[in-house]
Amino acid sequence: MALSTAYWESQTFLTANRLNLFGLLAEDPLDAATVAERLSLDSTAARLFLNALVGLDLLVRDGEAYANGPAAAAFLVPGTPHYLGNAFRYADGLYAPWADLEKTLASGDPAVPPADYLTDADPARTHAFVMGMHGRALGIGTALVGLLDLTGRQRLLDVGGGPGTYSALLCGRHPELTATVLDLPAVCAVAEGIVAGMGMAERVAFAPGSYLDGLGLPDGQDVVLISGVFHRETPTTCNDLIRRAADALEPGGLLAVADVFTDPGGATPAFAALFGLNMRLTAPDGQVHADADVARWMADAGFGQVDTRPFPPPMPHRLVTGVKP
Ligand SMILES: C[S@@+](CC[C@H](N)C(=O)[O-])C[C@H]1O[C@@H](n2cnc3c(N)ncnc32)[C@H](O)[C@@H]1O
Repeated sequence: MALSTAYWESQTFLTANRLNLFGLLAEDPLDAATVAERLSLDSTAARLFLNALVGLDLLVRDGEAYANGPAAAAFLVPGTPHYLGNAFRYADGLYAPWADLEKTLASGDPAVPPADYLTDADPARTHAFVMGMHGRALGIGTALVGLLDLTGRQRLLDVGGGPGTYSALLCGRHPELTATVLDLPAVCAVAEGIVAGMGMAERVAFAPGSYLDGLGLPDGQDVVLISGVFHRETPTTCNDLIRRAADALEPGGLLAVADVFTDPGGATPAFAALFGLNMRLTAPDGQVHADADVARWMADAGFGQVDTRPFPPPMPHRLVTGVKP
């Protein structure tokens, strides 16, 4: 029963985020009639909606007044430092493709081609995607910075670095580090503004291009970070990227691959297995890999000291690192 109705919870939450209910309630607690009036909702439906959000612990109610609960206040109010509403809006946009999962299962083709959200074809959508990645990366990046000791390292290449958030956070932690973000041109154009806003324009450079172009990666690196990229690619492409990362690194250089990974066999954790399906809906080679396979690919490419670590819970990510001899 819980599985068959899990979308009730998603859609109640995502609709509240889309309507900016949490932004509205951040100003003042409001009763259902006032919320209905401000958001142009039917008043009876609005009361059911607000009560469901109380049930989900997103809102609290004091008499007739509804207010944001602690999680909503921390993560769902636009303009606050840990705002994740843009990242959740991305998930909201995938609701319809998930409803059509059967089509992607039959064809193997993504319901949402990457050109729709990573190019100039739809600049507003690409902007929203990159801002969503940035919001999420601000949270996850705090953990990455703690896991990845780059003391003494000076040059970082961030392959598929997206919004540049991880590069900026890592440069913030390590004063001698500079970074280059390699990503698609339309993504870099948005990321430049994000990095400048984080005060790191002097230390984070951009190399607009494709990591699939068959060319070498910019060389002379101390660290190559490949985060959130392998889930878009086949094992063949992942192996190719690992070998090109090895070529780009100086001896003693560090390769760090971060992603949502499964255990061997691909079925657990359940979130990671479902994430593989989500990636197939949005990228032609979208899938999920096992971290044990990535570790083996790195060892096969000549990396030593290969190590795998989970991000702190509840984050589903894992980090595989290796050192070029
Ligand atoms: C899920 S995001 C990961 C962003 C960031 N590294 C992170 O971990 O949050 C995947 C990134 O890969 C980039 N990407 C996809 N295909 C690419 C390609 N062929 N060349 C360069 N970047 C690509 C996307 O634009 C996107 O920024």
